[in-house]
Amino acid sequence: MRLRLACLGFGNVGRALVTMLAEKERDLRERYDLEVCYTGAFTRSAGGWSAPEGITPAALAASGWPTSGALPAGAQPFAGDALAFAATCPADALIEITTLNPQSGLPAIDHVRAALNAGRHVVTANKGPIAYAYRELRALAAEHGVALRFESTVMDGTPIFSMSEASLPATRIEGFRGPMNGTSNYVLGRMARGESLEEAVAGAQKIGIAEADPSNDLEGWDAAVKATVVANVLMGADLRPGDVVRDGLGAEAMRQAHAALPPGHALKQLAVVERDGDAVRARVELAALPLSNVFATLVPGETALLLHTDTMRDLTLIEGDGGPGQTAFGIVADLVNIARGRWTV
Ligand SMILES: NC(=O)c1ccc[n+]([C@@H]2O[C@H](COP(=O)([O-])OP(=O)(O)OC[C@H]3O[C@@H](n4cnc5c(N)ncnc54)[C@H](OP(=O)(O)O)[C@@H]3O)[C@@H](O)[C@H]2O)c1
Repeated sequence: MRLRLACLGFGNVGRALVTMLAEKERDLRERYDLEVCYTGAFTRSAGGWSAPEGITPAALAASGWPTSGALPAGAQPFAGDALAFAATCPADALIEITTLNPQSGLPAIDHVRAALNAGRHVVTANKGPIAYAYRELRALAAEHGVALRFESTVMDGTPIFSMSEASLPATRIEGFRGPMNGTSNYVLGRMARGESLEEAVAGAQKIGIAEADPSNDLEGWDAAVKATVVANVLMGADLRPGDVVRDGLGAEAMRQAHAALPPGHALKQLAVVERDGDAVRARVELAALPLSNVFATLVPGETALLLHTDTMRDLTLIEGDGGPGQTAFGIVADLVNIARGRWTV
């Protein structure tokens, strides 16, 4: 199979993806009969280009676009905005990796909708479309006979969705919990080692896991968006991030909970999702966990998800230091699954 990719957004993940596709070119061809090329890319500030003949990942990586300022050889400037790019760039699949808007999922939802309506597969690492519009977009993908895949939306490329799809047949997910936000749990872990909250936040910013304004992480928005994605996809829920209860979170609450922590306990920010009759309830909370709890053993930077199932009972996935490389891997895994004919989760 030859997949022509149009990449919307080309930041940390876009660069890691093109590098991984170049490195894995032979593996993909020989093991999965999958050949990938780029027929376009677009960013907010650099604008876009298209190349109907296709540019190999190695050639695109070598071109240095968009930081070099020069278009890759064989590309023409794309005349139009991001939405037009999603709808009309000549490609089999749109890779949607623009910035997350945790309050509405826009404009990424529009990008994904436009690509699906144009009959293109979509692979996204952007949580927004799946948290706010999963049912609609899944139905649209089915209507057009194309794939909608999103492994990297939660815990980078950790195989949450593909594992459930491929390896948990006839299983009902009863609930899940976990320290799903890397930044909050990095900060709490550093506080446990004696740093102040400010020092721990500065450390998280220095290694590139926290934004200049870390409130989305500390106040539980990021975890709420991730919990919504997992609940809607794996539990058939129809939540929005605003439905996730986020009481007692934020910087001051973290300071107070840290000061009040009983000996022999570790403080974690957890997303907790449970069935309650026909409903699904979700919350993000600060939890004091005994050191024997699996989450209490995680080092700063690690994230985890424990699925409660009716077949395997409890199943835990732990990710070490995540980042753009692992996120790129999740996108590569989605592309391989498309080549194998697995189009839905
Ligand atoms: N980084 C990770 O490890 C990671 C992990 C899991 C999921 N994700 C998700 O993956 C996505 C990409 O992350 P990233 O780290 O690559 O972000 P990033 O480095 O900030 O790059 C974002 C890219 O999107 C472009 N962009 C933003 N808004 C746009 C718009 N409206 N139209 C067109 N282009 C737009 C930016 O263009 P300009 O630079 O020109 O503005 C930039 O090229 C995000 O949704 C993120 O939440 C990332």
